[in-house]
Amino acid sequence: MRVLVTGGAGFIGSHTCLSLIKKGYQIVVLDSYANSHKESLKRVNKILNLKNSEKIKLFKADIRNEEMLEKLFADSKKENNPILAVMHFAGLKSVSESIQNPMIYWDVNFNGSLKLFKIMDKFDCRTVVFSSSATIYSLSSSTNLKEDSNIGPNNPYGETKLAVEKLLQKMFAKQKNLWRIANLRYFNPIGAHKSGLIGESPLGLPNNIFPLITQVALGMIDKFFIFGNDWPTLDGTGVRDYIHVMDLAEGHISALEYLLKNEPQILNINLGTGKGTSVMELINIFQDINKIKIPYEIKGRRVGDLPSVIADNSLAIKCLKWFPKRTIQEMCADGWKWQKLNPNGFKN
Ligand code: NAD
Ligand code: UD1
Repeated sequence: MRVLVTGGAGFIGSHTCLSLIKKGYQIVVLDSYANSHKESLKRVNKILNLKNSEKIKLFKADIRNEEMLEKLFADSKKENNPILAVMHFAGLKSVSESIQNPMIYWDVNFNGSLKLFKIMDKFDCRTVVFSSSATIYSLSSSTNLKEDSNIGPNNPYGETKLAVEKLLQKMFAKQKNLWRIANLRYFNPIGAHKSGLIGESPLGLPNNIFPLITQVALGMIDKFFIFGNDWPTLDGTGVRDYIHVMDLAEGHISALEYLLKNEPQILNINLGTGKGTSVMELINIFQDINKIKIPYEIKGRRVGDLPSVIADNSLAIKCLKWFPKRTIQEMCADGWKWQKLNPNGFKN
């Protein structure tokens, strides 16, 4: 069965492509490489011992390019191998950038999704797994977040994710017996495939914790700044629900297979481990497991930050029969292996 993976060259997309191919799916990837490199998918082939393009059909295109989207679906149909489902990762993901430039976030994340869903509908492809985010939950509720916890993003990035979820809800309501939709709300994906061949390769300066820690470990950044040690948490530093990117990738396969096996429906599902780790704990675990020092300094709190954000992942476990298998130690070891072997990410 053929699946379209938009944004498949990116961090989560490339790990999910690997899992999809392992499960026997044929994949078509659409990516503009706005925040990725085509080397990532060559590495996926390398991990699987495949020749390039043997299992992955690659299209360099913008998700907002309706003509290209249409051609992609039409070509697959002509080949008698139509696209039957979509995993939709393509989008922009920096909270700070979205505050500085909301229009581009609305255009890529919302308009891009709208165009994709229109073409899917036209080609009778109505199964979609969408990359949503825990950032859509409201600031007041932040521990053991359930799918029906208060919604209310506080930044344009989160608003675009919520808008796409709402659009999918409307589409489902209009054609209840047709669409199969999973909105996967990710918590904090970190780590890398254990081969060290693929991983997170941010194009600019990272602002999420894990790539910052690995770049400090490499000596590319002098020290790590901890944003506040006066939060109402066990050690005063911020707590998050870190999830291994391979567990996240496998969550996508479980969601897709659940949708394909069951009647049309729309699901909102948290993908997290349900366990919190503080910034200080993460630094200590990273240092211990990798035998490397992370120089750090305590700074003030970051604007808009939260003390603790942890998923209630019981719905994913019950409904998808998925559960995260990898520990925080594995996340730190695998993520460091990737960074150590590829200090410049996919560049060079
Ligand atoms: P990423 O930037 O590595 O991947 C996104 C991919 O989309 C990249 O390959 C990029 O080149 C591509 N892309 C961007 N704009 C595009 C466009 N206009 N047309 C076609 N392709 C385009 O990010 P990621 O961490 O892999 O995230 C994947 C998805 O998951 C995103 O939608 C993101 O918002 C969402 N998400 C990520 C996180 C996280 O912490 N990484 C958390 C929650 C949700
Ligand atoms: C951030 C975004 C969130 C997005 C998520 C994944 C904000 C306010 N939130 O969430 O919307 O969904 O990334 O992309 O930007 N930390 C430091 N020093 C640093 C960086 C981070 O101490 O230099 C701490 C933070 O205070 C936090 C933890 O590390 O406690 C994780 O931070 P980060 O990786 O940015 O993720 P989130 O804050 O969860």
